[in-house]
Amino acid sequence: MQTLKPVLRQVRQSETLPDNGEHSCSLASNSATRTLHDMRRLVHRPRRLRRSAALRNLVRETHLNIHDFVLPLFVSGKLDERRPVASMPGVFQVPVKGVADEARRAQDVGLEAVLLFGIPEHKDEEASGAYAENGVIQEGLRAIKSKCPELVAITDVCLCEYMSHGHCGVTRIDGEHFHVLNDESVELLVKTALSHAAAGADIVAPSDMMDGRIGAIREALDASGFDQTGIMSYAAKFASVFYGPFREAAESPPQFGDRRSYQMDFANANEALREVALDIEEGADIVMIKPALPYLDIVWRVRERFGKPIAVYHVSGEYAMVKAAADKSLLDEHTAVIEIMTALKRAGADIIVTYWARELAKWLRE
Ligand code: PBG
Repeated sequence: MQTLKPVLRQVRQSETLPDNGEHSCSLASNSATRTLHDMRRLVHRPRRLRRSAALRNLVRETHLNIHDFVLPLFVSGKLDERRPVASMPGVFQVPVKGVADEARRAQDVGLEAVLLFGIPEHKDEEASGAYAENGVIQEGLRAIKSKCPELVAITDVCLCEYMSHGHCGVTRIDGEHFHVLNDESVELLVKTALSHAAAGADIVAPSDMMDGRIGAIREALDASGFDQTGIMSYAAKFASVFYGPFREAAESPPQFGDRRSYQMDFANANEALREVALDIEEGADIVMIKPALPYLDIVWRVRERFGKPIAVYHVSGEYAMVKAAADKSLLDEHTAVIEIMTALKRAGADIIVTYWARELAKWLRE
């Protein structure tokens, strides 16, 4: 049997033949015949394992599992009925009194975790709704925990939905300029996280991107006896256009300026690794990268460098893009979603936050 090397050399030679300055047609066709002959002795034929569905199943490296997915829920203090979010087909805001049923439905299809966002009745300059004893998240958590105690309740810890100006922290206006004050914001975030833990959150998920908030929250939780409450930090959260549709769902667009002084520049990867390292050092149990699909390089680098569980947030704009394309019959939604989710997992994600969690649960059972 001929070894692989000479075969490859011959193939290469035949490929380069037409460029050797000889222009004879017969030579070209001779070389084609020779190539075919050599190909028959090809040892490595990766296509052998792609011949049938069963063979492909046998060698598949990445498997989606219903337990990978976390479903975001929008809990509103302003509604009596659930209300569709126009920018995100298939996504609803639910009233506080309906959230436990919504959570139960998620559990019934096999999901094990939800991520709660709150829309308070009133917003103010101190984000008081974020840490109110009877705030939307706090009430929603109690309802969920009494109906579905086993369901993992994760809460978004941020101030943007509760601030009248829509920024994720305390702001100060200086003439033309506005500042989002770091340490003052962290103080309110700590209060918020504590009130979520007290209301039954299993994991708090700070999404504000202030410096030092993970350490401050960990310390405060421990000091108050919540040493079992986990922290999933939005560690590398980029200032992204893909959050657009969410801001309608959470009613949280900034009223002036943008979020680029606290969320990361999407051009930076080394900085993302530094952010992840800091959050792990400060006590994060799970680190999140957000958005998802345009940031697979970050996911992979975090996977290679750190040992912590990785979450990705496949965000509203990523969702809306596929929905819009599917709506125009430009692609098949189900197939697209499976490919996207598999790519996220292949890149290194352990946990995927997605608005398709419910559908995925169904599709993965079929
Ligand atoms: C902030 C927050 C945002 C998202 C999750 N948490 C919006 C933002 O930073 O402006 C975006 C999620 C999505 O787009 O699906 N509380």
